[in-house]
Amino acid sequence: MWTGTPLFPESASTMAPRVDALYFFLLAIAVFFSLLIAGLIVYFAIKFHRTDPDAIGARIHGGMLLEVTWTVIPLMITMVIFVWGASVFFAMARPPDETLDIYVVGKQWMWKFQHLDGQREINELHVPLGRPVKLIMTSEDVIHDLFVPAFRVKADVLPGRYTQIWFNTTKPGRYHLFCAEYCGTRHSGMVGEVVVMDQTEYQTWLSGGGPAGSLAEGGAKLFASLACNTCHRPDAQGRGPVLEGLFGKTVTLQSGETITVDEAYVRESILNPAAKIAAGFQPIMPTFQGLVTEEQLLELIEYVKSLHDMPQVQPR
Ligand code: CUA
Repeated sequence: MWTGTPLFPESASTMAPRVDALYFFLLAIAVFFSLLIAGLIVYFAIKFHRTDPDAIGARIHGGMLLEVTWTVIPLMITMVIFVWGASVFFAMARPPDETLDIYVVGKQWMWKFQHLDGQREINELHVPLGRPVKLIMTSEDVIHDLFVPAFRVKADVLPGRYTQIWFNTTKPGRYHLFCAEYCGTRHSGMVGEVVVMDQTEYQTWLSGGGPAGSLAEGGAKLFASLACNTCHRPDAQGRGPVLEGLFGKTVTLQSGETITVDEAYVRESILNPAAKIAAGFQPIMPTFQGLVTEEQLLELIEYVKSLHDMPQVQPR
């Protein structure tokens, strides 16, 4: 609908028609009531205009039926908007279980994308058609905001945190990608393109000229070179927690609280290890703040995730 209109973005994801339907519903309500009210103002102004300079308006008090009507009708309309809006919001906020994960690092003034297989891109993102894609995003400096109008997705990209968006594309093509948060002098130049390719094209693209090694493999190398492996050993004999099979689990902290091991927790544990010590361990890990870049952090996180499926080695 309205795709020929330069004012309205293309519709290229499964979410787009849902967002548009809600948008047009809101627009229709706004138009209907604007016309109704404007029309009645004009009509009443003409119908009840003062004919005699000494005329005094009639006193009117109460009107139960009228008051109930103008309370109940708006209540019903707003409840429809609420339930409908909430359902679209939840669909947007909850990615499906099986997604293609891609990491995004925003930086003044560019978008860096890292595919799990090791491909890196700047200001261009290649994704396969008809497959749910999840972007796990962070910023190296200030707050940015990733916005793809054709997919109707948009989320802030924050330093020190991971935010997510997901989409499932419905049409091959090239779509605009914007930074939607003022982030400095060249904010307006922080743009790019999402290239949606069909599966075979995407496979060809993936296999063509990718740098050696996946993200997790890069993380494994880093893990060894930073000597993380001296304390985090799979045999549980190290001074740090076993990382094998840890991602996604719930762990108990020294404080007695529990926490789910997600991207944010792994990141915090690398940069600020003393913040949330797992129960049974000493706060002896040094911080790696300033020693690893945002991209290296992603590699390490992906490495920890890759240990997820390995059989846990039992201590002897
Ligand atoms: Cu980044 Cu605006």
